[in-house]
Amino acid sequence: MTNLVGDVSSAARILPELNGEKLFIRNGKGAYLWDDRGRRYIDTALGFGAVLLGHANDAVNAQVAQALADSASPSWAHVREHGAATALARHTGALTKVMFTNSGSEAVHLACRAARAYTGRRKIAKMAAGFDGWFDDVSFGNVTSAEAGFQDGARPSTERTTLIRFNDFADIERLFTEDPDVAAVLLEPMLANAGCIMPLPGYLQHVQDVAHRHGALVICDEVLMGFRLFPGLAGLREGLDPDLASVGKAIGNGVPVSAVVGKPHVLAGFEEGRVTRGGTFSGNPLACAAVTSTLAQLDSQDYAGLIQRGDTLRDALENRFAAQGIHVVTSGYGNVFGIWPGAGAPTAGAPAAGAPSTYQQASSIADPAFSSALHLALREAGVLVMPSPYGRLYLSFEHDDDVIEEMIAAFDTAARRMSARFATR
Ligand SMILES: Cc1ncc(COP(=O)(O)O)c(C=O)c1O
Repeated sequence: MTNLVGDVSSAARILPELNGEKLFIRNGKGAYLWDDRGRRYIDTALGFGAVLLGHANDAVNAQVAQALADSASPSWAHVREHGAATALARHTGALTKVMFTNSGSEAVHLACRAARAYTGRRKIAKMAAGFDGWFDDVSFGNVTSAEAGFQDGARPSTERTTLIRFNDFADIERLFTEDPDVAAVLLEPMLANAGCIMPLPGYLQHVQDVAHRHGALVICDEVLMGFRLFPGLAGLREGLDPDLASVGKAIGNGVPVSAVVGKPHVLAGFEEGRVTRGGTFSGNPLACAAVTSTLAQLDSQDYAGLIQRGDTLRDALENRFAAQGIHVVTSGYGNVFGIWPGAGAPTAGAPAAGAPSTYQQASSIADPAFSSALHLALREAGVLVMPSPYGRLYLSFEHDDDVIEEMIAAFDTAARRMSARFATR
């Protein structure tokens, strides 16, 4: 009997047993984690994307330890809050106003409140199968739910949430002709939590333009993608002009922190006290110290090199599986990507051939048995990957060439082990 419900505190942490053993992590450093028996793993879950500088980064730890020593919860305005907001806003373009929160779910929740308050409208439109946190409103239509698949053909909606189909240009137009009560569209730069489905060319811009034309705001949910491709918002790099964005994960390198960033006029209601916000721990000193230290380091990292190393890994793993008669493709970016089985043989120079571009395609090739077998085979070979078909592999700046080599060898071992069960030739 365990006192911990379901053995873990977040459903995303549930893992199959390996040879009758559960996994309990004791510590981590850089690209590696060690379990309670001292076994070392290369990690690709990386705090579900939060740990971009690598586990237990020395500078972040030192700053957070100092903040802890100075008082974790002084209640009143403190000396680290403005510095962290300034550091963050330096990276977010016209979204110059900052409100700190603790988790990505909280940041999305607060951004949605901001949009409802500003527009006086009620509903938030989110991408079907997208993940914008686990709070009630936006967990409607999450990946694998009946609603995400539009199963009865009609648009699934509640009083506060409505769904749109990712990469369907006409669907967003239809939404606004059907429903004038949309306060904002939640837009992810990539449908990451559905296995890294990439936007079609022009799609993100199209959604933004339609939303704005109909008086709705655009919230870029950058909890996962923010600061991952460069030190800033992925949406801005795509040429978008969002009204609000939620950030989290990578801005604190694993220390719990998130934020809403927005245009000043959109957030004026909070400044003037007309719109409620709170949070005992919002903007706490540990979180602010982590943000300041993390962003200072991200500014000088070699993102292009990291993404290139990830692309090398993606190519290699596709080839290693192909050599064993198992066709897989990857989708996403070098430092955050999904693996799709049976989606078609990779072709030279086009490693993503066959990767899904809609949730319908993704759900038709998602294979939980394959993903679970891959997790177990890699875990045995010393690499930790998420066990879900919609999971992602992340790389940190500590995943250097040697780590990538080790990973390729582990994928080779896994592919050989899996070939008897999954080879198609
Ligand atoms: C795009 C996106 N938004 C929001 C969230 C929720 O963040 P958190 O788990 O910190 O509450 C996540 C978490 O994975 C996410 O990927």
